[in-house]
Amino acid sequence: MIDHLKVRVPATSANLGAGFDVFGIALGTPADIIEVEKSDRIEIIIKGKHSDFIPTDPRRNTAGIVASILDKAVRITINRNIPLSSGLGSSAAPAAGVAFALNEMYDLGLSIEELVELAAKGEKAASGVAHADNVAPALCGGFVIVHKKRLITLNPENIGIVAVHPDIFVSTRTARAILPRRVSLEDMSFNIGSAATMAVGMMRSDIELIGESFENRVIEETRERLIWGYSQVKKRALGAGATGVTISGSGPTMISVCRMEYREKIAEAMKEAFIENGKKTDVFMTTIGRGAEKLE
Ligand code: HSE
Repeated sequence: MIDHLKVRVPATSANLGAGFDVFGIALGTPADIIEVEKSDRIEIIIKGKHSDFIPTDPRRNTAGIVASILDKAVRITINRNIPLSSGLGSSAAPAAGVAFALNEMYDLGLSIEELVELAAKGEKAASGVAHADNVAPALCGGFVIVHKKRLITLNPENIGIVAVHPDIFVSTRTARAILPRRVSLEDMSFNIGSAATMAVGMMRSDIELIGESFENRVIEETRERLIWGYSQVKKRALGAGATGVTISGSGPTMISVCRMEYREKIAEAMKEAFIENGKKTDVFMTTIGRGAEKLE
């Protein structure tokens, strides 16, 4: 039996516009490195950016909850690279990483669907709802559709992604609380069109289709007001060659899709627009990446 394991778990971007709580992608970068070793109790150690703001009480930590559900006494060290409350799956990655690691270490034989369900229970500690659109791509990699208990994964290639995280605090709980409880038939129909087109765009690795399908009703227009300078940043990214721009997960990160060779120009344009709005940024120029994997 393995008594310790180090895993790499990627950042993720959920929703992709119209696929609220259904679509997610794994990003090539950034990623958290999570070490899990057998111990006499569940213990959480957090290192890296914003560590002081994350609960180490296993009952309040997304990774600790996963270990508690599986009843495994382990020391979990989370080396954080994914910015906190960014809309890049920072609370999902540790939950997914620990579910993945414990399945390997204890030879539990859990299926990928069971791992996603388990990690989503951990994720609930952060957002109040067990949505799986971050933990599923964190585990599976690629583009994932998570609907009911089914997972559909695609691995589109050469999709340029620019994720720009401004220095703004948005909690997922708040970003969910402001969403309307009811939507009109027209808005629902529009979003179904975008979601269906997105799935085809991902199947074809078609950057134009994917970008156009970022267009959505209700979600973006409600949440964009939490992101200072949103429309200006979006306009500049589109002007620099992005085929689509939207909010990553519940924000405040904004995500652009583009040809790989346009990433630098778009990153610069988005960064500058945020700076003009008084916001510093972290910028990730990446692509759609792999899911959780063993390092040693
Ligand atoms: N689907 C979730 C939401 C993702 O938009 O609230 C949170 O990152």
